[in-house]
Amino acid sequence: MQAVILVGGKGTRLRPLTSERPKPIVPVVDRPFLAHMLEWVARHGMTDVVLCCGFRSDAVVEAIGDGSAWGVNVTWVFEPEPRGTAGAVKMAEEHLQERFMLINGDVLTDMDLSAQIAAHERTGAVATLALVPVEDPSAYGLVRLEDDGRVRGFLEKPKLEDIDTDLISAGAYVLERSVMDMIPAGREVSIEREVWPFLVGEGLHGHVHRGAYWMDIGTPERYVQGISDVLSGAVRTATLDRMASGGVMAGADVHPTAIVAADALVEGGARVGPGARIGSGAVVSRGGRIEAGASLHRAVLLPGVRVGARAHLDSCVVGAGATVGDAAHVTDHVIIGDGVRVPAGIHLPELTMDAPAGMHDAGARPARRGIAAD
Ligand code: GDD
Ligand code: MG
Repeated sequence: MQAVILVGGKGTRLRPLTSERPKPIVPVVDRPFLAHMLEWVARHGMTDVVLCCGFRSDAVVEAIGDGSAWGVNVTWVFEPEPRGTAGAVKMAEEHLQERFMLINGDVLTDMDLSAQIAAHERTGAVATLALVPVEDPSAYGLVRLEDDGRVRGFLEKPKLEDIDTDLISAGAYVLERSVMDMIPAGREVSIEREVWPFLVGEGLHGHVHRGAYWMDIGTPERYVQGISDVLSGAVRTATLDRMASGGVMAGADVHPTAIVAADALVEGGARVGPGARIGSGAVVSRGGRIEAGASLHRAVLLPGVRVGARAHLDSCVVGAGATVGDAAHVTDHVIIGDGVRVPAGIHLPELTMDAPAGMHDAGARPARRGIAAD
């Protein structure tokens, strides 16, 4: 079967990481995010992939190429302006097969698409939505389901008082080509608002993926968490198979007194100095230099980052070619932009005090979390 993936997103909440690169290609451990999705669909037999691109498509094309590095064959479709989730696939109509999968390009997941396709074929549905349970459905498309798998109601971004189930649309659908007839050409159309509600009772089904990993990586917290989950194997990806035991890749130069956790990654061409600690969820990409006694935990370093002696990085992202000075602290989901120099000894986020001097730390809060080069 064919997979059509929507990759028009800007990723504003991941700035400054997404100032230089669009969200679909932010690095996740050892490859662009979208590459994980391509390997995932390929695992389920979908090697014919259509990518519907908008924002910064040049950068997406450069990172993904013809797809062969990730086991797929890519057809590119470019929008003149954002056409929305249904308008984008309408633009790809000439390339579509009789039955295909449509997938949102911003979710890290290992859902069993083969099982979903089998369910679609069994029921003869017009469209079958992947469903996952979440704690708070308000940011998603809420789906009310009958016991036999038919969808009884679809509510995009439901109001609190309308939430009566934990099932949401996970952004992966098996579709019959006939659905395309419902989408007007030449304008912005939302599949969530202008297609699903009209298909309720007309062949719209849901397939619940129990126990699958599923996460939208669009905020700094979830991005750092997603990388940690790739490294620990909480989400099944091809990356784990390729990592050497202990997380140190061939060609990395790790001092014998340094410690690298099994669920961390030090890439080839990176150097880790004496007594440094590369803890769980940390990524030191190629060309990285970690000086003596520095400690990293859940810190994601893009290529060419230098971390000074005794610096401490926890739950943060450091952009390509940036420098963290000796004994500096970077924590609490701060994102350091590409090429930024963090001076020695400073702590990010800086804390501001809401409470009057003399009181305890109550009210201390991060002042700013994204640090970009001028
Ligand atoms: N090419 C293109 N053009 N892609 C687009 C456009 C567009 O105009 N608009 C959105 N996309 C892509 C985004 O890049 C993303 O990969 C996907 O379509 C979904 O858009 P989002 O903007 O991320 O939507 P959302 O996260 O608020 O909600 C959607 O995803 C949820 C699951 O994460 C909906 O499909 C919800 O129903 C769903 O629950
Ligand atoms: Mg999204």
